[in-house]
Amino acid sequence: MTSIRPHGGTLIQRLVHEERRAELFTVVNQLPHILINTWTISDLDLIAVGAFSPLKGFMNKEDYQSVLNSMRLSDGTVWSIPITLAVDEGIAAQLSVGDRAALVGESDGVIYGVINVESIFQADQHEEAIKVFKTDDPKHPGVQKLYERSSIYVGGPVEVIHRPQPEKFRQFYYDPAQTRAYFQKQGWRTVVGFQTRNPVHRAHEYIQKSAMEIVDALFLNPLVGETKSDDVPADVRMKSYLTLLEHYYPDNRTFLGVFPAAMRYAGPREAIFHAIVRKNYGCTHFIVGRDHAGVGDYYGTYEAQEIFSQFEPEELGITPLFFEHSFFCTICGGMASNKTCPHDKDQHLTLSGTKVRGLLREGKCPPPEFTRPEVAQILIEGMKQSIPI
Ligand code: ADX
Repeated sequence: MTSIRPHGGTLIQRLVHEERRAELFTVVNQLPHILINTWTISDLDLIAVGAFSPLKGFMNKEDYQSVLNSMRLSDGTVWSIPITLAVDEGIAAQLSVGDRAALVGESDGVIYGVINVESIFQADQHEEAIKVFKTDDPKHPGVQKLYERSSIYVGGPVEVIHRPQPEKFRQFYYDPAQTRAYFQKQGWRTVVGFQTRNPVHRAHEYIQKSAMEIVDALFLNPLVGETKSDDVPADVRMKSYLTLLEHYYPDNRTFLGVFPAAMRYAGPREAIFHAIVRKNYGCTHFIVGRDHAGVGDYYGTYEAQEIFSQFEPEELGITPLFFEHSFFCTICGGMASNKTCPHDKDQHLTLSGTKVRGLLREGKCPPPEFTRPEVAQILIEGMKQSIPI
């Protein structure tokens, strides 16, 4: 049984072997140091293990512009989100094309890797915001992050010598080579990937299980990298996923592994990116529901689905499974969407995030038709520890 091909054909590996590591250690201290934050460290690590295949490093000017303008790398491969290394002006002034520089953690001083400088360029972040996020509103969390960075980018292939060490839930970190091997070992020919940055509510469960009816297995792949401060923290979410899987999912058809990337909130473009990356992890299918990777009302409810029609299926190589807004219908007596339920809107149970947070804060479980009680309990506990839920 062969598994799905990685994006671009090869699973990239930029983590150096022992010998090369020793060699690099003899030179890194003499190289200029580029300081990198946790966001960039996570991008670097995802490049290193091939989650971002075919990227071998941070984007050079050509790829960056091509991604902004046509959602493709300069060789035509589909890619929707810029993966860039922002460098302070002072450091950039010390660099020339052809140099190498060490990538050093800004808060821990650890040398994570080395970049071969292929291009140094000034980005137009306003243009980047409009093209990637479809807005230049500095209140948009992705745009805000973008504007906080230097607008000088350094591109080029990397060699990685050190990996960030997760503090919690270490056993749920798997590299694409490991998930691919696991899916194969299980004999799963089709695996649907599920991205989430939230606790799994009944609507999420419904679309996951609808997908599970037509594929061999579910890869629950919650994003645990940087998220905005009012999203539920990853460790509370992880507890909620474990409880849910234990009580309501078949063990032999589900697999939980984290996605240690930062959340961009780029809606449609991020949906394409999320799908491609899950292909690299070995998924054959990917769920895109309503307002995937959206925030506020910057994107239309189904824009993250519509964007897929801009590409040929074989260019993406992973099959998106689209789901409409799902809800519990009191007359149907079950979960449904407008595709399956004929009843009036006021029979549909929908709760706003604010309402759910209010209930949890008072120590009350939202209705079980909205959230499983086991999940609600974990969120209530999180609230008690004054964690934002
Ligand atoms: S996201 O930013 O990671 O997309 P979230 O964790 O809420 O946010 O969503 C995970 C996935 O479930 C996305 O594909 C999203 O579109 C889908 N989704 C969330 N809620 C619903 C719902 N009520 N109906 C249909 N799809 C949903």
